[in-house]
Amino acid sequence: MAIDFDDPRGGYIGEDEERIVAPSLLRSDDAEATLRPRRIDEYIGQERTKENLQVYIKAALMRGEALDHVLLYGPPGLGKTTLANVIAHEMGVSIRVTSGPLLEKAGDLVSLLTNLEDREILFVDEIHRLNANVQEVLYPALEDYRVDIIIGKGPGARILPLPLKRFTLIGATTRAGQIKKPLRDRLGIPILLELYTPEELATIVRRSARILDIPIEDGGAAEIASRSRGTPRVANRILKRVRDFAQAAADGVITREVADMALARLDIDRLGLDITDRRMMESIIRNYGGGPVGLETLAATVGEEAVTLEDVCEPYLMQMGFLTRTPRGRCVTEKAYRHLGLPVVRPETGQLSLEES
Ligand code: ADE
Repeated sequence: MAIDFDDPRGGYIGEDEERIVAPSLLRSDDAEATLRPRRIDEYIGQERTKENLQVYIKAALMRGEALDHVLLYGPPGLGKTTLANVIAHEMGVSIRVTSGPLLEKAGDLVSLLTNLEDREILFVDEIHRLNANVQEVLYPALEDYRVDIIIGKGPGARILPLPLKRFTLIGATTRAGQIKKPLRDRLGIPILLELYTPEELATIVRRSARILDIPIEDGGAAEIASRSRGTPRVANRILKRVRDFAQAAADGVITREVADMALARLDIDRLGLDITDRRMMESIIRNYGGGPVGLETLAATVGEEAVTLEDVCEPYLMQMGFLTRTPRGRCVTEKAYRHLGLPVVRPETGQLSLEES
């Protein structure tokens, strides 16, 4: 993922611009903000999370306090930023948005923190990329609403504690495992966002189509939903591409047939796998006898970044039951062989080589 400093949203622009199923934010997602729900009752899916959050928000409001600090984690494109904005709206406070790699120096964070109003929210995307100096500032801020300013240098240096307003930090990450324990322990509300079901995605697609004024039939929404790898961002992006096909190559309405035709043209298969997913599975089969193979080795063979395979391909392939992770590496399942139309080879029996088949 690349940081685009010229981007007015200060956001992250995926390097895989061409990949329609990429869950990272692409330039063409500019209209995403208009599709984002603002209220919690407009937010579709993540039901248990929403129920719990509503309790925490109601209790904080009743006490007149800031919400406890939150960690949102899970694969990209599932609505972490959206949920942070929804929380701010429900708490009736404003939200300031930044990201781990943008906070280069401790002073960058200090100036953000000292400008926060009572109960306001600071959203730090990619919080796992905060450097150690900046994290040091964060600990007393989260725990005691205080930053320690160091005045002077060497043995004569003094620490000046500066009180902060009672604020809420919402950190978001795709890589919770990379967050150090002292930080994780200070984020009292950890929330795992999960891939959406096809039914939830179909509801999101119909809602987006309504907002964008795109005529769509239920069958069309269901087709897009079942091929969007559990990810609203992908579903909304596919919706826009399918609209192009509906307008240019059909009568403007997204039916199941139009969606199917457009998705075939986009090389997204029946289950939402694109060429990268299929190459990853085929490589495990053809080069490593179905696995196990280490992630770095596999990435080099496929010609992709290891993080792309791990953050983007794997969550969905594992959810679909095509891939397993073992201590010795990644393995494909028999279901993957069948989906790719390849004969199942048991390396231990050595009966059948794919090249010969
Ligand atoms: N758009 C993106 N994510 C959404 C969600 N969870 N609910 C409604 N609309 C969305």
